Amino acid sequence: MTAFHLIMKILIINGPNLNLLGRREPTIYGSRSFDDYLAELRTAYPDMEIEYFQSNHEGAIIDCLHENGFGEVAGVVLNAGAYTHTSLAIADAIAAIETPVVEVHISDVMKREPIRHHSMIRNVCIGCFAGFGLDSYRRGLDRIIELANNK
Ligand code: DQA
Repeated sequence: MTAFHLIMKILIINGPNLNLLGRREPTIYGSRSFDDYLAELRTAYPDMEIEYFQSNHEGAIIDCLHENGFGEVAGVVLNAGAYTHTSLAIADAIAAIETPVVEVHISDVMKREPIRHHSMIRNVCIGCFAGFGLDSYRRGLDRIIELANNK
């Protein structure tokens, strides 16, 4: 008998300006690149396939959500960057797809400027982790694993 080992797929999406992590406002976002962190995350979760997509463009993020929203991806960990506060279109895309999405932020948005306090996507996501630095992504990942295992 063949033993099948199903690998759980999780997608991390980073929105605008997050390609500059490590160089962008290090006092707020830290001095580590996302590539470096992603390698650590993949090592820490060897039984999981962690896919990664980053874009500075709202439509590309929406396309990526659509493409991964009805298939084998167990969940999406999304840092929509500033689109979090402005994008009804990304909120609609999250509501439209079947795949659960967790909102994450590196910084504690509630302790920053008032314009960052509101999230357009909060109500359509299954949870939110903000203010834990890069560890917010790991927490988001764990939330998806927990959800998938309780199905
Ligand atoms: C961010 C917070 C947003 O307000 C900001 O626009 C970002 C990054 C965070 O990870 O802390 O680009 O999502």
